[in-house]
Amino acid sequence: SQQAVIAVVAAYLIGSISFAIVFSKLFRLADPRSYGSGNPGATNVLRSGNKAAALLTLLFDALKGWFPVWLARLVADEYGFGADVIGAVALAAFLGHLYPVWHRFQGGKGVATALGVLLGLSWQLALAALGAFVVVVKLSRYVSLSSITAAFVATVASAAMRGIDAITLAVLAMALLLVWRHRANVARLRAGTESKLGAKKAV
Ligand code: G3P
Repeated sequence: SQQAVIAVVAAYLIGSISFAIVFSKLFRLADPRSYGSGNPGATNVLRSGNKAAALLTLLFDALKGWFPVWLARLVADEYGFGADVIGAVALAAFLGHLYPVWHRFQGGKGVATALGVLLGLSWQLALAALGAFVVVVKLSRYVSLSSITAAFVATVASAAMRGIDAITLAVLAMALLLVWRHRANVARLRAGTESKLGAKKAV
């Protein structure tokens, strides 16, 4: 339907707003693409030393994933949106963060946005992913490893909770893309050179 197309395009456009870049500008910090991992995301903004900017990046990058999915679910009955449209909206917001139209399609790795998307889909799903993230980050201090683990847990949890439908396939697609975007992190993890949370020196 026309409403479904509008919902998917709007989700992509909202997802395309990089809050790492927005808040770095507002706080007059260096562009996050110019230091550390070069990633426009909360983890890398934290390497600037500004915790407030990093926290706001995390919050708003998550909100931009949550909002379109929440809204699509809210109007689902009215516009006849099924799991296929909700899944497409979820994936579109996530793809906006990875390939943002506003930033020459050079986006981030999608961790905060995926968490927001999951929360929009189901709080239980978000809780499962967040729980996995917290456990691994406490044990390892590697944000990247925790993010990859959480993405896998989210996929398995979605399949277990609702079976393999369009929404679980969207979660799976997000997980695969998230791992792909972390390929430089994976190489650093294997080489033992990945930067740990709290360490001042960035890779
Ligand atoms: O926020 C993405 C996280 O998993 C890794 O970020 O900057 O260490 O590549 P970064």
